[in-house]
Amino acid sequence: MAKVGFIGAGKIGQTIAYSALVSGAVDEAVIYDIIPELPDKFEHELRHAFATKGIKANVLGTNSLDDVSGMDIVVISAGKPRKPGMSRRDLFVDNAKIMIDLAQKLPSKNPGAIYLMVANPVDMMASVFMKYSKQFTISAGDQVETMRMRSFIAKKLKIPVTSVDGFVGGEHGEDAVVLWSTVKIKGKPVDEFNINKDEVSDYVKKIPGEIIRVIGGTTWGPGTIIADIIKSIAFSENRVMSIATPKEYEKEIIHVSAPTVVGSSIGPSLESLLDEKDRWHLNSAMKDFYEAYKENLKQLEQATKA
Ligand SMILES: NC(=O)c1ccc[n+]([C@@H]2O[C@H](COP(=O)([O-])OP(=O)(O)OC[C@H]3O[C@@H](n4cnc5c(N)ncnc54)[C@H](O)[C@@H]3O)[C@@H](O)[C@H]2O)c1
Repeated sequence: MAKVGFIGAGKIGQTIAYSALVSGAVDEAVIYDIIPELPDKFEHELRHAFATKGIKANVLGTNSLDDVSGMDIVVISAGKPRKPGMSRRDLFVDNAKIMIDLAQKLPSKNPGAIYLMVANPVDMMASVFMKYSKQFTISAGDQVETMRMRSFIAKKLKIPVTSVDGFVGGEHGEDAVVLWSTVKIKGKPVDEFNINKDEVSDYVKKIPGEIIRVIGGTTWGPGTIIADIIKSIAFSENRVMSIATPKEYEKEIIHVSAPTVVGSSIGPSLESLLDEKDRWHLNSAMKDFYEAYKENLKQLEQATKA
């Protein structure tokens, strides 16, 4: 079990915290937000849920960042969400300022913690947080897209989702790519089934925007999936998940998702097991990420000077 700090108690932060606590992976949770009383009232909600479920975890909702101390995992979902029509990268400057502030405050009280980034653009925020904190930071990355892909194929073929395996990789969002060489249906290659690959890719890219348009934000899908990342770390389950781990590229730390073993230690990445085409997609995602990231860092520098 793990001690987990949750930075940001908004829609996704609450959903992740709830799902992780109910899964039994967390024995101590500290939930922090800057909105007065929000974490405290969410703590009450959780305690009511624990009462019926018989959950014994310690939970504290707080407006003091100092309470986030001695954590094994720190989950960061603080920041602005997208509005309908926005891209995740439009959030870069605003959310990067929050990450730089947190990067200066969190590490001294949480040495050796694994930092799990959720705020968008999630992979770039992981890179920014790690650049300024020097702490090991992973991004929830494309594990969310991976589950969206599996769920869509299962629905199309009218089979249980447990019969669909495989991963989505690259940058979380519109540039994510289905790693087709990893996709297996009932253990068989995808080409043995009547699957329209473009339709699958389209769904993975467009469904979050549609959910945001109608519901106002994505919560239950990513919340449950990201709680599973916490669980895999807490119980050292060594599940293979498409998260983004830090990689050095042109002297910058960048985060791009690939299937990776997730346990009490993170890795290895199973990138080398992909076919040539999928590896090419990941390499090109890294290059695109790096160029966009450098551009965004310049904009951030200008915004902080202004
Ligand atoms: N990676 C994913 O799959 C995924 C899924 C959903 C949302 N997100 C992202 O997570 C972020 C949060 O989304 P949301 O829907 O929960 O938004 P939200 O507006 O409901 O919540 C954001 C919370 O962050 C808090 N906050 C802002 N600055 C803070 C700071 N310095 N310290 C602590 N808390 C702070 C706000 O007070 C608010 O409660 C967004 O960037 C969103 O795009 C990512």
